[in-house]
Amino acid sequence: MASRILRSLVPPLKQFAGTRTYAKEASLVTLIPGDGIGPEISAAVQHIFAAAQVPIDWEVVDVTPVKSPDGRWTIPIKAIESMNKNKVGLKGPLATPIGKGHMSMNLALRKTFDLYANVRPCKSLEGYKTPYEDVDLVTIRENTEGEYSGIEHTIVDGVVQSIKLITEQASMRVAQFAFDYARANNRSSVTAVHKANIMRMSDGLFLRCCRKVAEDYRDIKFDEMYLDTVCLNMVQDPTEFDVLVMPNLYGDILSDLCAGLVGGLGVTPSGNIGAGGVAIFESVHGTAPDIAGQDKANPTALLLSAVMMLRHMELKSYADKIETAALEVIRNPSFRTADLGGKATCSDFTKEICNIIESSD
Ligand code: NAI
Repeated sequence: MASRILRSLVPPLKQFAGTRTYAKEASLVTLIPGDGIGPEISAAVQHIFAAAQVPIDWEVVDVTPVKSPDGRWTIPIKAIESMNKNKVGLKGPLATPIGKGHMSMNLALRKTFDLYANVRPCKSLEGYKTPYEDVDLVTIRENTEGEYSGIEHTIVDGVVQSIKLITEQASMRVAQFAFDYARANNRSSVTAVHKANIMRMSDGLFLRCCRKVAEDYRDIKFDEMYLDTVCLNMVQDPTEFDVLVMPNLYGDILSDLCAGLVGGLGVTPSGNIGAGGVAIFESVHGTAPDIAGQDKANPTALLLSAVMMLRHMELKSYADKIETAALEVIRNPSFRTADLGGKATCSDFTKEICNIIESSD
């Protein structure tokens, strides 16, 4: 039991060759608190980092979109400059208007920094009962194209077209990332998730790229599975999965499904890895407008994303210390927030993690 507790919930991302050189020196981290519950959970993370004396400074930026002279909505230049300078960022949730107004700023960040791989570890939380107790898988989602390319237009009134764009370059790099990740984190298999039986050209290309990359990683078992089969098997027995790699839309949906298997969006971290050396770590949930400003939010997802970030920055001892304290608090039902069936506030939860960290020093 104890050894399971000590096993890292959030594996490191340090293996990725293209991003290794900068992280060690970075002491300034860009913080995007975001909207809704974002500022509350960001403050919780800042408190916990202060208690653990993590050697980083936060550069807080706002990404509320601004209108450029040509009338297009963009990320404020200060935020872009901060990310380009610091290379590492932590981001809370951002509200997106549906079907009108500005584009999703999440999408804009992904495009601006070419955040091509979205990594979501999904691991059962020791002591928190869910239908399956040994879930330990990672979804890796291609983050820049596919169904979310944003290429949509009206053909004639009442008929719209949305393009699913799949390129060899993006498919190869995300497949490569998935295998590198598996190898560096002692994972044994990578499963490519697809619908190449229906989308023969687009998913067919994605799948061929995965197969090609797999040839260079003979130490990692490679499987390919249809998305629908994965969904069925995932809810029947998620323990059979290890690392999964897939196009954008499938990854968006499947990773939320996986989050549901281990306690929901409030406890699931993620990291977005960029081609140019930028990495942004974020909670996967939204702004939770129904509980915003009420001290009810669970900051675990953002905190574990921040732990992932620390491992990425090779600050492992701090990551371990914070993660161990967070898992210990979650094991105690008295400190669980409402989304995990408890009555604790965000502040209660945060304070208890700080207490544990401070008393362990
Ligand atoms: P949501 O994730 O904000 O909320 C769904 C449910 O989960 C709500 O009942 C909420 O209270 C609960 N919840 C979410 N996070 C929680 C946390 N940390 N602690 C406790 N409970 C939590 O999804 P919804 O309502 O569909 O979206 C609201 C807004 O968030 C929208 O504007 C949407 O575009 C945006 N959004 C942003 C994301 C991001 O920035 N990555 C991701 C998903 C949605």
